[in-house]
Amino acid sequence: MQILIINGPNLNLLGRREPGIYGTRSFEAYLPELREAFPDFTLEYFQSNHEGELIDKIHEVGFTYHGIILNAGAYTHTSLALADALAAIDSPVVEVHLSNVAAREEIRHKSLIAKNCIGSISGFKLDSYRLALHYFEGIRPKRVGFRV
Ligand code: DQA
Repeated sequence: MQILIINGPNLNLLGRREPGIYGTRSFEAYLPELREAFPDFTLEYFQSNHEGELIDKIHEVGFTYHGIILNAGAYTHTSLALADALAAIDSPVVEVHLSNVAAREEIRHKSLIAKNCIGSISGFKLDSYRLALHYFEGIRPKRVGFRV
């Protein structure tokens, strides 16, 4: 299965950015561990701080990949354009967050993208990505109407 993990704005600073909330490891340090834990998956990674680049990437992979794991960062709460991009594609998307957004400021309680995702995983720090991969481990591409 070919899966793309997409991280949005400020997530390039994971490990250095507000470590009390987001932890002390960078995503680049974590990714090899994920790849080792899921040897049957082809796991690709993309990060951008720019809304349009995130949308371009979703368009690029969203008709051929078996799944997308998306941490849209603050765009989760603001971007109708990102929500529309997810509505337009075929690949199933799992929304992830490192922090428990429901336990944070009210503005973070609302996700504009959630309705266009299979489900959301929030609050398990980097483990949120691993839990999302377990979802993909359990599905068969045909069951989600996926074109290959
Ligand atoms: C985040 C939560 C968002 O509210 C925030 O803007 C982020 C990171 C998370 O992973 O916990 O940038 O998506």
